[in-house]
Amino acid sequence: MDLFELETWLREKNSAQLEKLWRQADHVRAHSVGNAVHLRGLLEISNHCSRECQYCGIHVGRKDLERYRMTRPEIEQCIHQLVDFGYGTVVLQAGEDPGIIPSSIEDLVTWIKGNTYLAVTLSLGERPLEVLRRWKQAGADRYLLRIETTDQALLDSIHPGRPYGSRMDTLDRLSQLGYEVGSGIMVGIPGQTYEMVAKDIQWFKDMDLDMIGIGPFIPHKDTPLSDTLSRVTSKKEQVSGTETMVNKVIALSRIACPEANIPATTALASINTKFGREKALSHGANVVMPNVTPKVYRVLYDIYPGKACISETADVCHSCIKKRIRSIGREIGSGPGSRKKVISSNLN
Ligand code: 5AD
Ligand code: FES
Repeated sequence: MDLFELETWLREKNSAQLEKLWRQADHVRAHSVGNAVHLRGLLEISNHCSRECQYCGIHVGRKDLERYRMTRPEIEQCIHQLVDFGYGTVVLQAGEDPGIIPSSIEDLVTWIKGNTYLAVTLSLGERPLEVLRRWKQAGADRYLLRIETTDQALLDSIHPGRPYGSRMDTLDRLSQLGYEVGSGIMVGIPGQTYEMVAKDIQWFKDMDLDMIGIGPFIPHKDTPLSDTLSRVTSKKEQVSGTETMVNKVIALSRIACPEANIPATTALASINTKFGREKALSHGANVVMPNVTPKVYRVLYDIYPGKACISETADVCHSCIKKRIRSIGREIGSGPGSRKKVISSNLN
């Protein structure tokens, strides 16, 4: 799809027309990644962060927030639990925490690969090339680093102190190092236009991303972007962060990148607690990331308000998600659920 078509879909309001988009995305999803929904256990290992991202509730300037860093025995316990649940992947996520020393992740990844069959996804922010290489050599399989928006001016304005190029460079390095690479955006950032989002979707394709995470921007009162309206220049051009808009971006991303793993994100589940995940799964998504963080910590991983699953335990989320997946006639994936490239399977 060219830029004009993408933008036209993003602006589409007619529900009969949108029905066609949903059907096409679901068809592409079924045809290219099948009916299985892969589960990735999300472990939020630390809420310390040295960055000032203007949208994020755990930014460094947030002095009132109690900070935590999980200990190695706590992490191991959660990993045993997610293995028992039958998940194929653990996602280790944290803010850009300088207290997480590279060797501790290296040791942890080595332990996970030596003691479980799990695929390991890291989501630990922008890190130097040498560190990313060490973690890859220890056995890490995938890395998530959302670009949030590919518009340079907008990205620079929401990420003070770290230029556009550094995130782009990190993504390039990750793929050169052999990681499966995930990125993605928030939809509805103040100042984000339809054209920008259309370009983001083209960028997903150009980057040949293995994983694409898309969620609504949810304003957090303790961040500079709490006062969202002050930054919006033109109402006509501003993309909203509604559920339908996010689902349009998911559907168009699925059509643009048929083989990618696309999660039904927690942020989306947070703006529609009843059916947010099911809807995303029916509009192109094929992955869910159940939270396995201990209850005492998950409440402190306060990146946006109203986060789904904040007062649940890993057990509760596990049964809840299984039920939701089965309720829409999909099955639970087994194994690591890595991205399968059509090209490589043709060569086999
Ligand atoms: N609203 C929605 N998503 C957010 N994230 C961070 N802050 C917010 C917010 N206010 C998302 C970012 C980040 C991911 C871990 O959480 O996209 O990459
Ligand atoms: Fe956590 Fe439903 S997934 S409560």
